[in-house]
Amino acid sequence: MSENASIKLNDRNLEFPVIVGSEGEKAIDLRTLRSDSGGCITFDEGYGNTGSCVSNVTFIDGDAGILRYRGYPIEQLAQHSSFVETAYLVIHGELPTVEQYAAFSARLREQAGIHERMLHLFEGYPRDAHPMAILSAMVNSLACYDPHLATNDHNRDLENFEEASAIALSKVRTIAAVAYRMSRGLPVNYSNKDLKYCENFLHMMFSDPFSPYTASPEVARAMNLILLLHADHEQNCSTSTVRMVASSGANLFASTSAGISALWGPLHGGANVAVIGMLRSIHEQGDDGSRFIEAAKSGKARLMGFGHRVYKNFDPRAKIIAQGCEELLDSLGLTDPLLDIARRLAEAALDDPYFLERKLYPNVDFYSGIMMRAIGIPLNMFTVMFAIGRMPGWIANWHEVAADQNSRIYRPRQIYQGPVKREYVSIKERT
Ligand code: ACO
Repeated sequence: MSENASIKLNDRNLEFPVIVGSEGEKAIDLRTLRSDSGGCITFDEGYGNTGSCVSNVTFIDGDAGILRYRGYPIEQLAQHSSFVETAYLVIHGELPTVEQYAAFSARLREQAGIHERMLHLFEGYPRDAHPMAILSAMVNSLACYDPHLATNDHNRDLENFEEASAIALSKVRTIAAVAYRMSRGLPVNYSNKDLKYCENFLHMMFSDPFSPYTASPEVARAMNLILLLHADHEQNCSTSTVRMVASSGANLFASTSAGISALWGPLHGGANVAVIGMLRSIHEQGDDGSRFIEAAKSGKARLMGFGHRVYKNFDPRAKIIAQGCEELLDSLGLTDPLLDIARRLAEAALDDPYFLERKLYPNVDFYSGIMMRAIGIPLNMFTVMFAIGRMPGWIANWHEVAADQNSRIYRPRQIYQGPVKREYVSIKERT
């Protein structure tokens, strides 16, 4: 039986339907609130209680620590799948058959290179330019090299979706590798079509003339795991940004480029960089973590890599990546003092009423940086890795907006609290 919700506004009773998701989650459908109430809107700064769309891509139950892509539990995908297979699932909605997987991989391989003229764009950046700025600019620029795929007419862009999405997913890692090589003054490595997605990326990052880099199976597996765990995460800051930009009719490259910019900030994808900065400074100060925890509790510091808007018991990705991190370091015979500090911080915080009361637990970023350090990824590239991993989710969400014939431009409202109407005063008369 369908449910209704009612709102009493002064002496009027307003009725609204309740929408139920496939996992039983509920939303009061307030789309007619403004017209029914004579101008009243909902106010939910930070959108903590607002469903901005209906989506079929990812399900999260933050209280139960559940994350599923297209219905498949993240734990099963992490154990059995690869990044490319998971990307196919996220984008297309089903796990690929053998033929579909082969065709998808072939498209990604074909699209790995970037236009020679585009390489010149990188040369204009200063050597210390942030790779996230370069990545966002270059992904947007991809539209210029294939304008027939980026017409800003969703129906036309959807006809070429397979090609455009393969370009975005494949070239994002090539752009990342070129940005890294150029920042170090190193020659650019062309893609090797014989290699798989992650191995090819690591080759483009780390091969040198006369000294090809071959990723060990353990490193390739770790790279797959990092990217796969980031593949989508429903309506987070960057994905909502992608949908917002897409809702104006913008093409896939413009929309995902905006997602990259949104991801950059330290409260979102930039947290993986901030975690390492925090662990390093704790290490350098000879703190065992307890002083930092006290600073976090008094509001003087923030325990980066802790807390999540949605997960309130644990982040399932953090559990998987913590284990992956231990396994990678063991297999490489490496130790990392930052991992010891991270372990101690997590243990201390998980025993402390401040963190327990606020339901603050390690998130995926708490351990991913330690894994990336072990692979040799430099610190300023950590958020770039997150962006490569998140590309399938952004693509899938762009597709949902573009394919929805009833989609409207996203346009929230506001409550204005600025000055009321006043008269213009000429500059000479102003005091
Ligand atoms: N360290 C210390 N205290 C914290 C932390 C933290 N990491 N996170 C939240 N708190 C405290 C707040 O000070 C606040 O305390 P109060 O109630 O006494 O005022 C309470 O917990 C609630 O915090 P909010 O900031 O309101 O929580 P919100 O849901 O808005 O923020 C966020 C979530 C941004 C992830 C936050 O926990 C944070 O800044 N974490 C560190 C950054 C980080 O790791 N970001 C990555 C997120 S995961 C991702 O993007 C992949």
